[in-house]
Amino acid sequence: MPGQPEAVRTETAAVLRSLRGVWDEEAVDEWDHAMQAAARALDDGADDELVLAAALHDIGHSPLLGGPGMEDHSGLARDWIEPRFGSRVGWLAWAHVAAKRYLAATDPAYAAALSPTSLASLAEQGGPRIDPEFAGHPWCRDALRLRRYDDAAKDPGAAGVPLAVVLDLAEKLAR
Ligand SMILES: [Fe+2]
Repeated sequence: MPGQPEAVRTETAAVLRSLRGVWDEEAVDEWDHAMQAAARALDDGADDELVLAAALHDIGHSPLLGGPGMEDHSGLARDWIEPRFGSRVGWLAWAHVAAKRYLAATDPAYAAALSPTSLASLAEQGGPRIDPEFAGHPWCRDALRLRRYDDAAKDPGAAGVPLAVVLDLAEKLAR
């Protein structure tokens, strides 16, 4: 459970490292996916909380949490993140599924560009939908930004951030 910032840093490192070799996409494992998502957030000038949420959005697939293929992986991520980093980081990580459903419902080009795995999971997640609670949320725009980082973080040739960059943020933002 949450403790000193150094303890949160250690826990975060363990969860992220556990993503190496976990596959939920075709082209990259969940470790590369997390580090690339954080890199794309930094490229976009995202604030610290949004960068950290991008790095942690899929930790529900960690064997230390739910494991690969976990149905409610976004809820698991939020439940792990919120007590450590606060409600905004937790909500932004949770919202990556709602954001995908929203974009698929509102942007025809979006669904057409999704990877086959992402399209399959969209169907499992209930398909395109504008959730009024999501669309009206004050952090909705940030969640849509995170979703773009998520979708861009599936390139086997792309660089991710070094782990220390994420862990420095984790230590800084620890509650
Ligand atoms: Fe993702």
